[in-house]
This record gives sequence, structure tokens and C-alpha cells, in this order.
Amino acid sequence: MSQDKTHLEKAEWDEKEALQVIARFTDLKGGLMEALHGLQEAFGYIPPESYDLLAAAFNLSKAEVYGVKSFYHDFRSAPRGHHVVQICQAESCQALGSRALTSHVQNKLGIKLGETSHDGHFTLEAVYCLGNCAVSPNITLDGKLHGRMTETHFDSLVKAVAL
Ligand code: FES
Repeated sequence: MSQDKTHLEKAEWDEKEALQVIARFTDLKGGLMEALHGLQEAFGYIPPESYDLLAAAFNLSKAEVYGVKSFYHDFRSAPRGHHVVQICQAESCQALGSRALTSHVQNKLGIKLGETSHDGHFTLEAVYCLGNCAVSPNITLDGKLHGRMTETHFDSLVKAVAL
């Protein structure tokens, strides 16, 4: 199987590979969730072409597969951008301004939570506690944790990666 593809250099759709991934989970309880995770690991997101394969493998309708996929925010409908910003939306960070910070970040990047910019440069994601509550509000940029985040600090981080 392919390496984890989390960014825009996604794997092209490959039905044979998708079938191999799905086949690993068809006999498991909760296999659909495992198969969705496996597909995301293989392709970087859940390719829409896989819905029919999943429906057939798990004896579900395509709408049921889509419903499960859509319910869980971890499953992406498109590959991530080159840089991934995650903003904590959990209680401690909210109490210390993550909502206002989220609005600022959305305006700055021109995308909403769960979206990727058209140029593929940024993906913005919500997360729910990064285990760093003492220095809320927290974000990650490309996996690196930043506490006590301010709008000014965020702008400088973005400037550094946008160069
Ligand atoms: S609530 Fe944001 S890091 Fe814990």
C-alpha cells in the first residue's frame, strides 16, 4: 500500500488499491469505519469513487456510506493543502478566545473550518483539545503546537510559511 498521503500530492484514484484496502476490513465489526480510515490513509481523503465499493462490501446503500463518512469530521472529502492549520475549539481554548481567533484565521486564510484554499496552500481544521489547555488558545501549524496564540502571532506564522 501507499505511504500516508496527507497533503495535496494525493494518490490518484486506483480502484484495485481501494478494493485491497476495503477487503482488509470487510469481516470486522465496525469494518466500515476502519475501511474509511484505511482509504484516507491511502489516498489522503475519501475518494467519492470509493462509495460504491464500500456500499457493496458492507451491504449498505451508497447514501448510508456517505452518511457515515459525513458524520465524522475526521474524514476528508478532499486532500489537505500544503500547510495545515488546526484550531482548538474545546472549552478551555474557547474560554480564552478561540472563537475570535478562529474568525480572524478564517478571514486571513479566506477559508472556513474544514476547507482548503483554492491554491492548495492551506487547510483549516477544527480540533477538540490538544492537551495544552494551560496555555490556551492553541493551534497547530503543520503539526507544531503553538499556545497562547494571538492574531498577531498567527499572522507572523502564516507569513513565514507563505514566503
Ligand atoms: S481545550 Fe484547547 S488545548 Fe485543551
